[in-house]
Amino acid sequence: MAKLFTPFSVKGVTFKNRIVMSPMCMYSCHREDGMVEDWHRTHYTSRAVGQAGLIIVEATAVTPQGRISPQDLGIWSDDHVAGLKELTGLVKEHGTAIGIQLAHAGRKAVLEGEILAPSALAFNEKSKTPKEMTKADIEETIEAFKKGAQRAKEAGFDVIELHGAHGYLINEFLSPLSNQRTDEYGGSAENRYRFLREIIDAVKTVWDGPLFVRVSANDYTEGGLTVEDYIPLAKWMKDQGVDLIDVSSGAVVPARINVYPGYQVKFAETIREGAGIATSAVGLITSGIQAEEILQNERADLVLIGREFLRDPYWPRTAAKELGVEIEAPKQYERGWR
Ligand code: FNR
Repeated sequence: MAKLFTPFSVKGVTFKNRIVMSPMCMYSCHREDGMVEDWHRTHYTSRAVGQAGLIIVEATAVTPQGRISPQDLGIWSDDHVAGLKELTGLVKEHGTAIGIQLAHAGRKAVLEGEILAPSALAFNEKSKTPKEMTKADIEETIEAFKKGAQRAKEAGFDVIELHGAHGYLINEFLSPLSNQRTDEYGGSAENRYRFLREIIDAVKTVWDGPLFVRVSANDYTEGGLTVEDYIPLAKWMKDQGVDLIDVSSGAVVPARINVYPGYQVKFAETIREGAGIATSAVGLITSGIQAEEILQNERADLVLIGREFLRDPYWPRTAAKELGVEIEAPKQYERGWR
């Protein structure tokens, strides 16, 4: 049996296989209120019918100011729960687990009005200069992540992932390139980690299910973080009860990335070995054979598929055929699945 199609269990939740749909913003809240719309219902449910083990719903903003764009999904108010609950129901109906990525865009928000960051440094010459967050801003944002987690629980999500990657707010605190604070939230690694530490602690007061954190394991810039810097951070996360590190890279500052098949797998492997924590690999993983190699060589525990899942909602079936494995079909498709 291919390892790709073996189950993975964490904190009492079992994914039927190790194929995860990577979180991908759909920018489809056309009313600009962060509410689930028909697109989300169709898009995510299609991948559940396609037999993903876990779907991680796109970056979902914990405050209106924390959206990347006005069309982002939101979880900043109780009004968001009903639509998200409908979505979890639609996906779970097909035996697929569903997670949500809780996010705050920080200085990468492209919105009217004030935007927030650890330091008043713009991402690039075209972007707005953010306001340096006060202690009160920090406390409010931590509370917003906690409330987001509470609502995610009410909506029936199986997994919460904190978005600590791609140069959004949590990542901006972690990296010395974007965090030049002189208080207890800046300077040493412990201090730059403090914001994430406090978010994890706050989330854990309302959430005892599987908790993932997505990180950017390489800033690809001198003076920035490398995968080695993430090993102690991953150990701290593990000590705090984080179950899995979802290992991505880049985008905290503009930098060129050398992209090739599996370009981030090595980072997932290094963190898995160095910190003794489960990881997921993501980034240009497109074939079943490639995914199977990553799992069999214990380089990661789960494989996340992004763009290939956009091209092929039935990617698990495609991968199973490639690996010579027969997987269950939705019963309505049994006559045409193989
Ligand atoms: C993304 N990605 C992404 N990552 C994330 O952590 N949260 C998000 O909301 C998004 N949004 C998003 C939208 C779209 C349209 C794309 C293509 C990508 C990154 C994504 O999850 C994944 O890490 C990368 O696309 C690399 O994996 P693939 O696509 O090579 O499998």
